Amino acid sequence: MVGLQIESTLALIKPDAYPKQEAILSVIKTHGFVIAERATQTLTKQRAAEFYLEHKDRPFYDELTTFMSSGPLLALVLRKDAAIPAWRALMGPTDSAKARVAEPDSLRARFGTDGSRNATHGSDSPQSAAKEIAFFFPEYSSPDQYKAADAKEYLTKTVCPLITKALTEMCRLNPPNPVEWLGHSLLRDAGVQLAAPKSVPASPAHRIFFVLGGPGSGKGTQCAKLVEKYGFVHFSAGDLLRAEVKSGSEQGVMIDDMIKEGKIVPGEITIALLKSAIEGTTAPGVLIDGFPRKLDQAGAFEKDVSDFEFVLFFDCPEEEMERRLLERGKTSGRTDDNIASIKKRFRTFVETSMPVIQYYEAKGKVHRIDATQSIETVTDKVIGLF
Ligand code: ADP
Ligand code: C5P
Ligand code: MG
Repeated sequence: MVGLQIESTLALIKPDAYPKQEAILSVIKTHGFVIAERATQTLTKQRAAEFYLEHKDRPFYDELTTFMSSGPLLALVLRKDAAIPAWRALMGPTDSAKARVAEPDSLRARFGTDGSRNATHGSDSPQSAAKEIAFFFPEYSSPDQYKAADAKEYLTKTVCPLITKALTEMCRLNPPNPVEWLGHSLLRDAGVQLAAPKSVPASPAHRIFFVLGGPGSGKGTQCAKLVEKYGFVHFSAGDLLRAEVKSGSEQGVMIDDMIKEGKIVPGEITIALLKSAIEGTTAPGVLIDGFPRKLDQAGAFEKDVSDFEFVLFFDCPEEEMERRLLERGKTSGRTDDNIASIKKRFRTFVETSMPVIQYYEAKGKVHRIDATQSIETVTDKVIGLF
């Protein structure tokens, strides 16, 4: 930003162009000017004469001041870097007739008639800008002399804490599209309401939903309810992996070890299993439970398989999940429903899987559900989302 000189200038939309002010204001905004002040005024002939005092000995003085007091005008203070020359360039040559030949796109060419009835006025130097702004806006105090120290103080008080926090989190998460992630994260932290999760079907054939949450948070239980209610199909990544282990395939042994250790199986394996499961489906909705468990799986699925509508995230504290898993372990026959594996799975969830939820949350794609209540209460909350 060093080297930019923010200036304020006076702009008038004269009586001849006053009815077309919207078109001119649109050009002003498109060119990056900030409208710091605006007021409609009708000048008396005497006020007009005062404004153009420097021209009092010129032959056009009477005609000009008569015209300038003939109806309402719009007075503006415009700000941007080098606003004075920028606004003059946008207006074009003084005489509208000449402007139409030399600069047909300029405001005076488009909206004016001749040398006096030329649609707009602009200050020609910082001194005249100060004088002319004071003429129309005596209260205006220019913020243009902004010092580095003022900027530092302002930034320290306002955006620095948010940006530092978001950048730190971004480095930790290492999202695949950092700028988009950062933008969403800043808006969320600033309390700006992000768009509700998309409810547009991902493809005409399937609505795809990711169902995430810690081990034992109730993903499988709630998916079964949705299958019952909506005729959705439910694919649990964990179940598909366990079936692969049972099939006795070569990679089954490796998967079995990883599951016992609570580790995340390489995404290519899980994605291939999910892809072939989804392919033959004709159900109106597909619930993908326990996937993506790692950020790279999220990116790969969206890229190679499909977009999805939203993430259903079951939020549950570890003590409650541990209690449920130990209970489930009495009958599940799962090799990982024991306290040693459960502890490892919790660690993996916090370190590797939570970033996926944070990533999608920053994009406004997560419905977070308090999963501590009874199965029926959680179902009631979930049902309302589809
Ligand atoms: P996940 O698929 O997330 O690992 P499950 O759906 O298998 O979790 O649930 C884990 C265990 O907790 C199961 O035995 C299930 O019956 C029980 N459970 C699920 N939801 C609740 C709930 N809201 N309250 C109490 N127990 C629950
Ligand atoms: O979801 P579930 O608890 O059934 O998953 C059991 C195990 O399967 C996980 O702890 C993990 O080892 C493996 N898994 C995986 N990648 C997934 C889903 C499950 O590696 N996306
Ligand atoms: Mg499950």
